[in-house]
Amino acid sequence: MKTGIATTTMASLPQTIILFLLLLGAFAQARDPFACDSKDVKTSSLPFCKVSMPIPNRVTDLLGRLTMQEKVRLLVNNAAAVPRLGIKGYEWWSEALHGVSNVGPGTKFGGAFPGATSFPQVITTAASFNATLWEAIGRVVSDEARAMYNGGAAGLTYWSPNVNIFRDPRWGRGQETPGEDPVLAGTYAASYVKGLQGNNGDRLKVAACCKHFTAYDLDNWNGVDRFHFNAKVSKQDIEDTFDVPFKMCVQDGNVASVMCSYNQVNGVPTCADPNLLKRTIRGQWNLNGYIVSDCDSVGVFYNTQHYTSTPEEAAADAIKAGLDLDCGPFLAQYTENAVTRGLLKEADVNSALANTLAVQMRLGMFDGEPSAQPFGNLGPKDVCTPAHQELALEAARQGIVLLNNRGPSLPLSHLRHRTVAVIGPNSNATVTMIGNYAGVACAYTSPLQGIGNYAKTIHQMGCEDVACNDDKLFSGAINAARQADATVLVMGLDQSIEAEFRDRTGLLLPGRQQELVSKVAMAAKGLTILVLMSGGPIDVSFAKNDPRIGAILWAGYPGQAGGAAIADVLYGTTNPEGKLPMTWYPQEYVSNLPMTDMAMRSSPNRNYPGRTYKFYKLHQLCSYHC
Ligand SMILES: *[C@@H]1O[C@H](CO)[C@@H](O)[C@H](O)[C@H]1NC(C)=O
Ligand SMILES: *[C@@H]1O[C@H](CO)[C@@H](O)[C@H](O)[C@H]1NC(C)=O
Repeated sequence: MKTGIATTTMASLPQTIILFLLLLGAFAQARDPFACDSKDVKTSSLPFCKVSMPIPNRVTDLLGRLTMQEKVRLLVNNAAAVPRLGIKGYEWWSEALHGVSNVGPGTKFGGAFPGATSFPQVITTAASFNATLWEAIGRVVSDEARAMYNGGAAGLTYWSPNVNIFRDPRWGRGQETPGEDPVLAGTYAASYVKGLQGNNGDRLKVAACCKHFTAYDLDNWNGVDRFHFNAKVSKQDIEDTFDVPFKMCVQDGNVASVMCSYNQVNGVPTCADPNLLKRTIRGQWNLNGYIVSDCDSVGVFYNTQHYTSTPEEAAADAIKAGLDLDCGPFLAQYTENAVTRGLLKEADVNSALANTLAVQMRLGMFDGEPSAQPFGNLGPKDVCTPAHQELALEAARQGIVLLNNRGPSLPLSHLRHRTVAVIGPNSNATVTMIGNYAGVACAYTSPLQGIGNYAKTIHQMGCEDVACNDDKLFSGAINAARQADATVLVMGLDQSIEAEFRDRTGLLLPGRQQELVSKVAMAAKGLTILVLMSGGPIDVSFAKNDPRIGAILWAGYPGQAGGAAIADVLYGTTNPEGKLPMTWYPQEYVSNLPMTDMAMRSSPNRNYPGRTYKFYKLHQLCSYHC
């Protein structure tokens, strides 16, 4: 790397200076200070740069120096620079749901940071029911995030975790959540957030964000999408279901941010509802941090929901409701006019900015040189370390759930099961194992590779992909099962079936997967094991009732080392310790149940079965469907 003074001939310089130049070279990749650069004496001596001053005073000082035009450009994720005060632009949007993610413009993989440790998708990690593990993952992720920030490859504000309740089994984003139990979700939220944010008083290692507040758990079902949906929710369900994880995240996790959602709750867009934002999150729960919109949700409630008649009213409503930051350009475009027209006071804008600026100061962004600060030493060597990758493997082991073990059939024996047919569209999965809101993994161990470490494998896809639209590859799979001592079918879903903006229509295995499993099990010489990859639950009662299928495992989306963990469980190197964090309903459950019906409790007089293990009544469903 070139530095400014490297043009002097090296030979003429004393050793110590050469060493100094080499060190400069090593740091050449490090980012410049965001603000308060000691090289800029004019700005770095201003009071808001004084590390010794209390943060509220530094915030007040800075706010007093900003013009209205500068202020509104700080209300958006792509915050503009204020060069005359020595403040650079900042991209607020980074994600780290289960590892530093490449979703969001704040993070960039490549160069010194080709990958980051990719932990299991959250639904799998939640299945460990282990808060110690969740916090440990948060610590590792924030080490890697800080390392990437120091190298100029990531931000410090992460819009993770997603703690919405997995209310309906079809939800495409259920995989991102800790499941359906409010207290488990809240415990997950608090633990992961603590791991991410560190344990240094008011100071933040990175700033986490619990999202999406609230009653958001429908993406696109039967012509209704999240941008248009008005969730009609009872006070009781808000209190004992939807609020719980967010309240725990704020109060127990001390999260630095909460994100409001796209949908309306009882007729009001969540990002424009002072009752939800100002009164509940900030007033009752005492959020110490900022409230951010989901990306473009202010634009969505103006343009799509037509909630206000002018964009200025939308901007004013959002800020007056308690929104501090807009993911999207809307507030930078319309806030100034909203103030000019008297819809909003400058003091309201100041309150919003006070919340975001304080978080940036708690992160150390106004303390000058990143390398001189806590975590300033973290760099590429601290990403994808053996210890971090081992924790990803450990998390998968703790999250895999043994759904059925007939006989018992598991564990396999490396003496008796020397040849294993490894079959199925997910049998050699790699990126499928990390689910959505992932990054670039350090490396993968697919199920085929993992099992290959214990036995000789015969590999057959069985279906071209998880959609499994035809039986062209069935005979190869059946022949493999005929020859092997044991057969492992790795089936299930991927992002083509369940994802953001893609809710499922049913709960069965897609296409002809079920037929493949049954035919292979029928033909197999040895034991047949079914391994499922999915975020949402799958109705596999056909397999549970098939005496030829010895065991069923659910692996969720088990992360970069998922195949190794599956093999460890199959061969008994580790016990499957996971417990399901969501109910596995029969397919009939959804056949007459609108995803849009938000009621949690069952209601016999309208044949409503209720939702989640707390309220779903099996016998009632049966009296209706059977
Ligand atoms: C929870 O996870 C931690 C970290 O992996 C592990 O050391 C501990 O044994 C786990 N606890 C239980 C009860 O499994
Ligand atoms: C399994 O996947 C890896 C990585 O995508 C690939 O290199 C390998 O060829 C695949 N193996 C088989 C047998 O398809």
